[in-house]
Amino acid sequence: MILPIKTYPDKILKQKTKRVEKIDKEIEKLINDMIETMYASNGAGLAANQVGVAKQILMFDNGKGLKILINPKISNRRGKVIAAEGCLSFPGLEIPVKRPEKINVEFMDRQGIKKEMKAEGLAARIICHEADHLAGKTILDTLGFIRKLSARRKYLKEIKNRE
Ligand code: NI
Repeated sequence: MILPIKTYPDKILKQKTKRVEKIDKEIEKLINDMIETMYASNGAGLAANQVGVAKQILMFDNGKGLKILINPKISNRRGKVIAAEGCLSFPGLEIPVKRPEKINVEFMDRQGIKKEMKAEGLAARIICHEADHLAGKTILDTLGFIRKLSARRKYLKEIKNRE
């Protein structure tokens, strides 16, 4: 089932999500719906709170296959790269965001098995973007105060014009 995507300024995007303790039927269904929703929206990644569920689940496909990370924990961030980033919760907005070049990430897979992986480049960027969502942060929060205000104003004006 394709789920509606919550767009800024929906409050759930600012909410910290909760850890998943067990993969039950409900979580299985949520994961399947998120997969369907992400591909239907042509998104490269998706976090559970973007579809209204405050749980620590993210997924992405950087063109090398689908990855699902539950309770992700990023460590060992190395390097810095600035690149333009968009977000399904900010339709039409694209801003330059500084992200680590390489990361390590611990997570649980959809079978409930603990894993660890290294990621770099686009994969590292998407994981950091989606992990920010799970922490209640959006791409606007990567900006300094003044640039955040101006990007926010521009975005809100644009979505208002579209209504
Ligand atoms: Ni996003």
